[in-house]
Amino acid sequence: MQKVKGTYDIFGDKSNDMINFRLIVQALMDKYNAKYFETPIFEYSKLFHRSVGETTDIVNKETYDFKDRGGRDLTLRPEGTAGIVRSFIENKLYASNLPLKAWYMGPMFRYERPQSGRFRQFYQFGYECFGSFNPMMDAEVISIAVNLFKLLGLDNIKVNINTLGDFESRENYRTALLDYFKPHLEELCDDCKNRYEKNPLRILDCKRDSENEIMKNAPKMIDYLNEESKIHFDKVKKFLDDLDIKYEVNHKIVRGLDYYTHTVFEIEADIEGFGSQNVLAAGGRYNNLVQNIGGPSVPGVGFALGLERLLLALEKKNISLGEEVNPDLYIISIDQDDKAFSLSNYLRLNGFNTEMDYMRRNFKSNFKVADRLNVKYIIIVGEEEVNKKILTVKDNNTKDEYKVKMEDLISFLDKKLGDNHED
Ligand code: HAM
Repeated sequence: MQKVKGTYDIFGDKSNDMINFRLIVQALMDKYNAKYFETPIFEYSKLFHRSVGETTDIVNKETYDFKDRGGRDLTLRPEGTAGIVRSFIENKLYASNLPLKAWYMGPMFRYERPQSGRFRQFYQFGYECFGSFNPMMDAEVISIAVNLFKLLGLDNIKVNINTLGDFESRENYRTALLDYFKPHLEELCDDCKNRYEKNPLRILDCKRDSENEIMKNAPKMIDYLNEESKIHFDKVKKFLDDLDIKYEVNHKIVRGLDYYTHTVFEIEADIEGFGSQNVLAAGGRYNNLVQNIGGPSVPGVGFALGLERLLLALEKKNISLGEEVNPDLYIISIDQDDKAFSLSNYLRLNGFNTEMDYMRRNFKSNFKVADRLNVKYIIIVGEEEVNKKILTVKDNNTKDEYKVKMEDLISFLDKKLGDNHED
């Protein structure tokens, strides 16, 4: 049996990265008073149709859709925002103190062509903030992603921002696009002809037609922004300047999801040879999404980061997310397995990372195992030790040996292991 194309297993170094990344993100999220959310991996398909958008590539070509045995139309989540918004509405969290800041981390599913940095099951860390129209929030969302990269020591990033304006600006722009593309329809691909009818903005996101001259001369969103949208974007830029965050305004960013209004952004890895899948994190503001899927009119803004791409970038820059945790103690028994077993349990309950010999190895190979595990102390449990209730404790570094009374063992180890002991 083999794993499904576009998926991978997490073990060894990767599991270490996953665990450490979660710890780093959790500590960072506490700084912002963001709360952890977990929503189901599958939702009703219509949730993604209404949020991500009927005419997007994600919904049209990339979702894993299925019927459950009760005949429900379900979809494996292709992204995290829709589920969080659904939960925000369903649990009436809009009635609590706003802004509400949510973070999440978990697997997402898209039927895309797998390549370096692109998988069919991939992990996102995401952040969503509900309840504020303040452009400070747009800047804060971007700063969270930037601060995370800074915290990890990854300097090689580029922040690209753009604005899609508010509903009125979008409608004006839509009309301009319809007028512009009308005489050129025959020159566009079939998908784009379809997009012309349903959502002309998506034409700009077409990969097949992107080199087409007609596309290059298409009207630009920036020329159709109303005053309010311009002011919002200017303020976002000012707040980014206040935080000393470098960015570039890139009018080509329209994003592959339909729910955005105003600010959108993408953060790229600026690393040679990284490959085409170089967007590490992306997001933006969505002032109408909560209402569009049945909630009250509450604005939102957020982003998501792709874990695989981040780990790839860290690897290219030789940045590690932290060491693997090894046991501090290794217990060897000499025909006293049951005593060694209960001693291990006692030590673990007292906060010590403890491993023991379950394999009945001889003394020499047990010491080898202890070295391989890089343990700090070896505890030997033999007949004499059991009878006298005095244990032999060996410092695996200096090779010094101590005789320690059973009743003094915990305080002895506490003293010896000091801060290294993870209680
Ligand atoms: P997205 O741009 O579709 O946005 O995805 C965010 C990030 O997820 C990408 O920048 C990339 O790092 C990673 N990603 C996406 N697809 C794949 C894949 N097939 N394989 C590996 N990594 C991938 C969203 O998902 C929005 N929900 C972001 C957001 C949150 N906007 C507002 N709030």
